[in-house]
Amino acid sequence: MIGEAIHEGLLRNGFSNVIEPNHSVDLTNRKEVTELFNAMNPKYVFMSGGESGGISANQLFPARLMLDNLLVATNVISTAYEAGVTKLLYLASSCIYPKNCHQPMNEDAILTGSLEPTNEAYAVAKIAGLKLCQAYNQQFGNDGASTKYITCIPANVFGPGDDFDLEESHVIPSLIRKMHEAKILGSDEVEIWGSGTPRREFIFSKDLADACIAIMEDYEDTQPINVGVGSDLSIGDLARLIQKVVEYPGKLTFNTNRPDGIPAKMLDSNKLIDLGWRPNYSLLQALQATYRWYASIGQSINKPYGKVNPSIPYELGR
Ligand SMILES: NC(=O)c1ccc[n+]([C@@H]2O[C@H](COP(=O)([O-])OP(=O)(O)OC[C@H]3O[C@@H](n4cnc5c(N)ncnc54)[C@H](OP(=O)(O)O)[C@@H]3O)[C@@H](O)[C@H]2O)c1
Repeated sequence: MIGEAIHEGLLRNGFSNVIEPNHSVDLTNRKEVTELFNAMNPKYVFMSGGESGGISANQLFPARLMLDNLLVATNVISTAYEAGVTKLLYLASSCIYPKNCHQPMNEDAILTGSLEPTNEAYAVAKIAGLKLCQAYNQQFGNDGASTKYITCIPANVFGPGDDFDLEESHVIPSLIRKMHEAKILGSDEVEIWGSGTPRREFIFSKDLADACIAIMEDYEDTQPINVGVGSDLSIGDLARLIQKVVEYPGKLTFNTNRPDGIPAKMLDSNKLIDLGWRPNYSLLQALQATYRWYASIGQSINKPYGKVNPSIPYELGR
């Protein structure tokens, strides 16, 4: 999802010599990564490859998530340096912040406390990638090449190309799918997990892509940078907004037997705001665009969507 959005954003912003995302290379295989860099000879790298997932994926496959992200990070970052890449943007995740982090979460809080146990393996791998970027900057940042390998930490991302599999998906694709299917099947009730009171921050993939491009162009610090929109909302309000977008006429119920997670999670994005970046899309517009894309892919109900083809074109009304 994010890689496709960055690719589309680069083309939309008039950049040339943009290399197509390549789905055939296994980034855990150093030989294949070296061959890719030798063939493409990139100057700038946006590093959005890596396995991720929701709570169940993190609990079922922690070793796979950790190993994939560690190997991808070590292979791509070290090969990028060998290939003379001077600027690289590594995408980490807000789960690298301590479990009881002060809100909104400032970049200085990384590694100041224990991680949330449910996604610790994945988070440790992402922290390793961040630290590897900084180690390259420290060791090679002052040589002729002036290596700048930057880590950005996005809020919860959603958009066209998202994963709508109910087992693996995040809250927005999951609620869109549940309400869409309930509307078509005429179900009069959709269940939301938890009380609906926890507050979360979301960023549209297209806005994240523009922020990544702005960071690549203008951010010269080697410290990580948060990428959020500066506002959050409760899961209950989010569900009601999605209900409006999907035009689902039934009732929303909240299952309080399901866990809520931490009461609030929001990034301090002041560094990004200082760069002059602002989101272009309201949450409502972004949800409408995502739903239009989802409805257009036309998969049958009861069939898992899994990782749908993100390259299916989508239109964004503004
Ligand atoms: N989505 C979010 O809310 C969010 C928030 C913060 C950070 N991030 C981070 O941003 C990055 C991109 O996330 P996304 O939501 O765009 O996920 P995504 O849609 O699953 O994209 C990740 C891509 O990485 C590829 N990949 C994984 N392991 C690979 C390997 N060993 N070799 C080659 N390609 C590999 C996947 O290929 P396949 O499809 O073939 O598996 C997929 O195309 C991830 O690192 C994620 O941790 C995401």
